[in-house]
Amino acid sequence: MQLLDGRNLSKKIEVEITQEVKKLKESCGCTPGLAVVLVGQDPASATYVSMKKKACDRVGFYSITHDMPATISQEAIERTIISMNENDSIDGILIQLPLPEQIDTTKLLELVDPAKDVDGFHPYNVGRLVTNLDGFVPCTPLGVMKLLEEYKIDVKGKNCVVVGASNIVGKPMAALLLNADATVEVCHIFTDDLKKHTQNADVILVGVGVINLITEDMVKEDAVIIDIGVSRTPEGKLVGDVDFEAVSKKSSYITPSPGGVGPMTIAMLLSNTLKAAKMNAKKKNS
Ligand code: GUN
Repeated sequence: MQLLDGRNLSKKIEVEITQEVKKLKESCGCTPGLAVVLVGQDPASATYVSMKKKACDRVGFYSITHDMPATISQEAIERTIISMNENDSIDGILIQLPLPEQIDTTKLLELVDPAKDVDGFHPYNVGRLVTNLDGFVPCTPLGVMKLLEEYKIDVKGKNCVVVGASNIVGKPMAALLLNADATVEVCHIFTDDLKKHTQNADVILVGVGVINLITEDMVKEDAVIIDIGVSRTPEGKLVGDVDFEAVSKKSSYITPSPGGVGPMTIAMLLSNTLKAAKMNAKKKNS
C-alpha cells in the first residue's frame, strides 16, 4: 500500500505558484486577487476560509474576505458580487458554501462572472467541464485528478465508482473521470446496495461525510481508494469516509484523511486563481 500524500504535493504546487506570481508581478505589475464571501458563523466554513486566506498569503496573492452576518439579505450579497465582478484587482470570486436557508444560492453562483469563477460552480463552467472544454474546474475533484496524475495512476478504461453526487464533488468528479476515459459509476444516498458497486471498483472515490462508510469487505484487493470525506468524531478527531485502518491493508494506493485530498483542494484554488489572473492580465494587455 502506498499513501497518496496530498500535503506534500500541495506544498510542491505552492512553490511553483509562488514563482509564477513573482514572474507575473515583474512582467505586468499584476498581483492575483481572490475575494471570498463568508456568510454566517458555521465553524467549518470559517476554518476553510481562514485556511484559504493563509494559503493566498503564502503564495503572494492579494485576498479579501467579505464576512457577512447570517441574517444578511440576498440583495446585499448580490451587490457585493456585482462590485467584485467589476473590480479589476479581483481575479477570483469564491462564495463559501453552504449559505443560510433564506439565500438563493443558485442565483448567487450564476451572478459570478464566469471568468472569475475559480470554484467552477457557474453553469457556464459546469457545461464546459461536461463537454471537456477548458474552463474552471471545481477545486476538490481537480485536486484528486492531480494527485492521481502525480502517482501515475491512469484511470483510462478503469472501473471508477464515485460515492456522492453533489454539485461540488461527486458530479464534477464523475465528469473529470469520464473525460479521462474511465468507466464511471455514481452512487448516492438512494443507491440500493452500495457494496455491490464498490466491490468491483478499481478506484473508489468517496466524499459524503459518513464516518466508516467504506469498510474492508466493500473493497477489492489492490483497489485505489480516494477519501474525500471529512468529519469530526465525538472525540474531536478529523476522519474521512473510509475505515482507513482496515481498508489501507487491502488497497494499492490510499489517501489519508486528513492530509490527502483536503490540501489539494486549497492548492487547486490557488491554481485556478492564478489561471484567472493570467487570463485577466492578457485581456488588459490586448
Ligand atoms: N464548501 C465545501 N466545499 C467547498 C468548496 O470547495 N468551495 C466552496 N465555495 N464552498 C465549499
